[in-house]
Amino acid sequence: MKVLSVASECVPLVKTGGLADVVGALPRALAPHGVEMRTLLPGYGAVMDALEGAEPLEVDLPEGRVLGGRAAGLDLFVLDAPDLFAREGGAYLDPEGRDWPDNPERFAALSLAADAVGAIWGADVIHAHDWQAGLAPLFARRRGGPSVMTIHNVAFQGNAPMDRAGAMHLLPEDLSGEVAEYWGQISTLKAGIAVADAVTTVSPTYAAELATDDFGMGLAGLIRHRGADVHGILNGIDTEAWAPPYGDPAGKAAHRAALLAEFGLPDTDGPLCVVVSRLTLQKGLDLLLQALPALVDQGGALALLGTGDVAIEAGFREAASHPLVGVRIGYDEALSHRMMAGGDAILIPSRFEPCGLTQLYGLHHGTVPVVANVGGLADTVIDANDAALRADAATGIKLRDVTTHELARALHKTLALHRNKEVWTGIQRRGMAHPVGWDVSAAEYAALYRRISG
Ligand code: ADP
Ligand code: GLC
Repeated sequence: MKVLSVASECVPLVKTGGLADVVGALPRALAPHGVEMRTLLPGYGAVMDALEGAEPLEVDLPEGRVLGGRAAGLDLFVLDAPDLFAREGGAYLDPEGRDWPDNPERFAALSLAADAVGAIWGADVIHAHDWQAGLAPLFARRRGGPSVMTIHNVAFQGNAPMDRAGAMHLLPEDLSGEVAEYWGQISTLKAGIAVADAVTTVSPTYAAELATDDFGMGLAGLIRHRGADVHGILNGIDTEAWAPPYGDPAGKAAHRAALLAEFGLPDTDGPLCVVVSRLTLQKGLDLLLQALPALVDQGGALALLGTGDVAIEAGFREAASHPLVGVRIGYDEALSHRMMAGGDAILIPSRFEPCGLTQLYGLHHGTVPVVANVGGLADTVIDANDAALRADAATGIKLRDVTTHELARALHKTLALHRNKEVWTGIQRRGMAHPVGWDVSAAEYAALYRRISG
């Protein structure tokens, strides 16, 4: 069974969020299930530089050419189209932080290449990730090829003005309200959801939430219409890349001391809480700014690494004047690993969270997740309520609502549990034993591919 995965990011080559971790991990996770997965990526500078043994494919495309090769241990196809992808700046944003104006055409070209590569390589299934690959199921359908559309985040829908349809290789019949048209615009994510043989999202709870008007962000009706074709398959993590540098929570002490020093924080008996996150409305960290006294007034400390909205960044820079608050604005993969190892707890008060990976990294490191009860956070953390504590089942702390008040309550609870070393160590140990790898979910993807490819 051959599956072509189509995406705009992939670790360790290009990453803006969890999408890259998942796309990078899937091929290795699926191999034991008899699935040969290859990944098609845009030929960004970093991807072209890393590509080894590049061979051009015999495909005829309006933009660029496709190379097959290897990079970072992955078998790749790369759309080598320098006009579209070889640029200073980010994957989606120019150096000033604005969307590249030709994003619709850039990623339509990727989706068109997917169909051509799928045909020549003999893919049994095209697996498209997020809006950037949203047109791939549509192009595959023209040939009758089966496809899966995975929604990693419905907040990004790939909207473009109608007058770009021609440049995006769309035909008049693609522009109906049943396919790509969305409130007078084109939505590539909508097109993918509408026509793919199966739609998946990255946790069972988010699959259910997507069908509600509160979380569906305008696409709930379509999700409901796809009904049983929508599946929630929980993300795993690469447990090798994210292996903790100790086998027992006691091994944390040295890493904790090093992390306190790295953030210029004093030693404290309270829990060292960490945050590794994009700083956007989704992540609810504006609420943490309000709730911070609940943590630091009782000797808890915060070490935050993140980047994003200017206002939230500024809020945390200001909060860092408190002696128990350390803040790094920026993106730093190596530091994120040290934070998982050195932290006592990790805070994730997201307003919505399709899956979330940092709570999984936290569990695996005995860094207790304090999370909103939404999406994949709801599916992966067992709240330390009385029943779960008595049954020795708790792995973290859940907010009942995403409000400042609830976050403050959860922080108080974290402080109280942390004071009881026996209970706290139990929570950490269970988290470390919680299965966070890909085994179960990879089997689910493999079964889905087999079902839709007949
Ligand atoms: P999302 O994809 O919505 O941002 P996830 O939890 O799925 O959320 O994935 C985020 C990924 O990005 C994780 O691997 C996390 O460690 C990483 N990450 C987020 N912000 C930073 C940062 N500032 N520095 C390093 N890694 C980060
Ligand atoms: C998105 C979501 C996040 C998820 C990631 C990988 O970025 O925001 O919750 O973990 O995709 O699927």
